[in-house]
Amino acid sequence: MKAFLIAAALAPALALGSAAAQQSVRTGPTAPELAPGRQVYAQWCAPCHAAGPRLAGTMSLQAKYQGEVPAALEDRTDLSAPVIAHFVRNGVAWMPPFRRTEISDADLAALSAYLTAPLERRGAHAPLLADEMAVLPQGGRP
Ligand code: HEC
Repeated sequence: MKAFLIAAALAPALALGSAAAQQSVRTGPTAPELAPGRQVYAQWCAPCHAAGPRLAGTMSLQAKYQGEVPAALEDRTDLSAPVIAHFVRNGVAWMPPFRRTEISDADLAALSAYLTAPLERRGAHAPLLADEMAVLPQGGRP
């Protein structure tokens, strides 16, 4: 039963092949000053926006942009701090608004610094949690 559920959950991932193809190479360490923002991203955003299949945010943005921009938020270079703040505080579709008790203004600033930094300073993709990786092929790595 469990194997069936996992197989069923992975089926839509096949449609996201092109999203994987356009990901930029992300290796190496994260610049030290970006580490706090990367941590905020890993905790609050990666579960929906990581560079893997079957994640609500990544799938939605793949459908929205059709590959014009990377589907994974962490690979985007076109986001600005005001845009990030708007979506984080207001939410959109299935994305909930985040309160200041969840993501403080300081955390939001750190998150924005991370998501707007040059790709080579962001380092490797933020890892997913064990239970998120369990349902993804290759442990959730692109
Ligand atoms: C529960 C899942 C979920 C979580 C958690 C989540 N998002 Fe989203 N997010 C979405 C979905 C779904 C969309 C796309 C909605 C649509 O189709 O326009 C989205 C859209 C966005 C967009 C708009 C991008 C664009 O170009 O339209 C931004 C920016 C964004 N999210 C940032 C974040 C950040 C930063 C976090 C972490 C603080 C986060 N999201 C957490 C689901 C999520």
